[in-house]
Amino acid sequence: MSDQNVLEELKADYRERTPGSKAIWEENRNGLVDGVGSQPRYVEPYPLAIESASGSTIRDVDGNEYVDVFNCFGGVPMLGHAPKAVRNAVGSQLEEGLVYGHPYPKQLEYTNALTDRYPMIDRLRLANSGTEANMNAIRLARSYTGRSKIVKIEGTYHGSFDDVFVSTMPTVDDAGTREAPTPRPNGAGVPDSVLEETIVAPFNDPEALESILHAHEGEIAAIIVEPVPMYATLVEPRDGYLQDVSSLAAEHGAVFVVDEVKTGCRIAYGGACEYYDLEPDLVTLGKAIGGGLPAGAFGGDAEIMREMSFQGRGRGNTENVGTYNANPLLVSAGSAVLEELTPEAYDRLEAHSERIAASFEDVLRDEGITATVQHLPSVGYVHFGIDTDVTDYRTGSGQRFDTAIQYWFAALEAGILPPPKTSAWYLTTAHTDADVDTIVEANKSALAALS
Ligand SMILES: Cc1ncc(COP(=O)(O)O)c(C=O)c1O
Repeated sequence: MSDQNVLEELKADYRERTPGSKAIWEENRNGLVDGVGSQPRYVEPYPLAIESASGSTIRDVDGNEYVDVFNCFGGVPMLGHAPKAVRNAVGSQLEEGLVYGHPYPKQLEYTNALTDRYPMIDRLRLANSGTEANMNAIRLARSYTGRSKIVKIEGTYHGSFDDVFVSTMPTVDDAGTREAPTPRPNGAGVPDSVLEETIVAPFNDPEALESILHAHEGEIAAIIVEPVPMYATLVEPRDGYLQDVSSLAAEHGAVFVVDEVKTGCRIAYGGACEYYDLEPDLVTLGKAIGGGLPAGAFGGDAEIMREMSFQGRGRGNTENVGTYNANPLLVSAGSAVLEELTPEAYDRLEAHSERIAASFEDVLRDEGITATVQHLPSVGYVHFGIDTDVTDYRTGSGQRFDTAIQYWFAALEAGILPPPKTSAWYLTTAHTDADVDTIVEANKSALAALS
């Protein structure tokens, strides 16, 4: 059967099983653009509408149940959907008030839980999203260094604000050389002036970064990296690469910002900083630290963080503001989750992720499907159509996203829900060994349906 016919057949099955989702989408799209909360959630012919979710299970409005391996791009609590610890903590917070705009005792417990995992954080502030955390980290770096340009890595995502909405997924033909990529806006609306301030470097290439830093000597305020790029990919850093970036940042007077919004408290107790033995100037966090509530945090070196401290100087050199900053619901939910996420929990998340990756590799080989699988504790990604190691954006850029879309529909039919249109997994501690059996079997039958 041709690829197009396979997809049409899978979509026909989807339509048959999900008429309720279609009806909801028809109504929703008259209000929300495309009937969804953000573009990546949109699926042709229409997105799946959810009735409820608990533990590792998510149910659509037509009564179909799936083992959830999407988990809202890592935004679902690391303990699974609606965990008791979060319900209890948020429930009592609801009785005590939703938002104060003043300090309160529970803040301390939460910030201690974060600094225990990230000992390089001397001081921090809380925010409401990963986007806000990175926006503030960059502003801090600019304030601290008195410089305005930043370096980001090609193919990485740091949130939806202009400075970093650049070269997240550029068309390679239109993006200059690999060593010195041309900054490309992520769609219209990003001013040209931003493209002057955001310099783009390839991942896993310290020499290229060094050349860029020399070319912009004295101009770079911050180098911001996703330690493991995970925007439609999963790229592991080569041994020593992140340490090289750290040294180069120090050598050239730039602030080294590690964006742990996705990896933080997910791939290890102390996130990528622990996993790769890093001590950045600033760390940004989100997702897993929020226990399912909108979350962000940024912090690090006391001297840099002092830029936004009063310290007898009026408002501080730069200001950090936000009505809902350090909000009690986030603090309650986040504390409840972090308390149960022990170092041992990460061993189980690794064992489960390892099993899924290994079974994917076996089935892909058996079915004769070309793909490269990469994984870390609790997360993994299949690059369809790629038969070499993915080491940066460009080595993964020939991915067959059309195969990933087919896989998504086939996986749903087999009883698991991956991220929309994507061949990735995000695990929580709610996934049991039996759930992993289900995921492995579902992947087998989904991939068999494609070949
Ligand atoms: C690495 C990284 N940084 C920042 C963000 C932005 O976080 P948020 O969606 O909470 O604004 C994301 C979101 O996926 C992310 O993956």
